[in-house]
Amino acid sequence: MIDIHTHILHACDDGSPDLETSLTHIKKMKDAGVTDIVLTPHYMMGPYQNTAEIFELRFNQLKKALHKNNISMQLYKAFEIYLEPNTLEEIKNKDLSINGTKYVLVETGFHGFAKDFMHILYELVINGYYPILAHPERYPDISNNPDLAEDLIHRNIYLQLNAASFIGLYGKKIQQTAWNLLKNGHCHFIASDNHCNFNEYIMPQVLEKIEKTIDKYTVELLTEINPEKMLKNEKIDFFYVENVQSNETIFIQKFKNLFK
Ligand SMILES: [Fe+2]
Repeated sequence: MIDIHTHILHACDDGSPDLETSLTHIKKMKDAGVTDIVLTPHYMMGPYQNTAEIFELRFNQLKKALHKNNISMQLYKAFEIYLEPNTLEEIKNKDLSINGTKYVLVETGFHGFAKDFMHILYELVINGYYPILAHPERYPDISNNPDLAEDLIHRNIYLQLNAASFIGLYGKKIQQTAWNLLKNGHCHFIASDNHCNFNEYIMPQVLEKIEKTIDKYTVELLTEINPEKMLKNEKIDFFYVENVQSNETIFIQKFKNLFK
């Protein structure tokens, strides 16, 4: 399994506070079957102005500590970039993409999209980047209007959903939005967004639920096949499933879920 969104690199942001915490959580991830971790500290003006130098320093400290503790784990460099009008320039000048590919992990505010949100994304796309929007299900603009997710995909934006959303850790509405997006094929990656704030690494239990509710292939696609393509800078299909579920099927499914 490849986890493409984590805040497990120590002392960079609101994720892991120190090296010891990073090691503890990486061990848990390894035990859960994770082979590759994309390190995505926040890149945000003001609170988290992580630079390439800070990243390199922490990255080397973490790699040494893993080696010393005999923990094998593949790590990749990236950032979770908060969208701002100057994001394109920042990505170009500061090499903020995922592992040197054209893929970039981006986020926006939880209290409504900025009015130039679509334009910033458009600029990234026409300059050859492949934006991946982190946790779309958590944004009210999307949970109130799920059609916007499809609109974003038509604009060449990939969507990465958070595992915690599927088990209601951000509330019922976000949980429902996550399942609806997934069932409609409006999801290209599922990742942990691990901030080292849960004792347990929740990906396995969430993926088990998805496997039961949808199928094993979908789990593989979103946590292995697509992440692998991303790390190799290969294009990923924007649309891979048609929404063939009738309301009747959804009703039966909901009824069955009551007895799980
Ligand atoms: Fe994040």
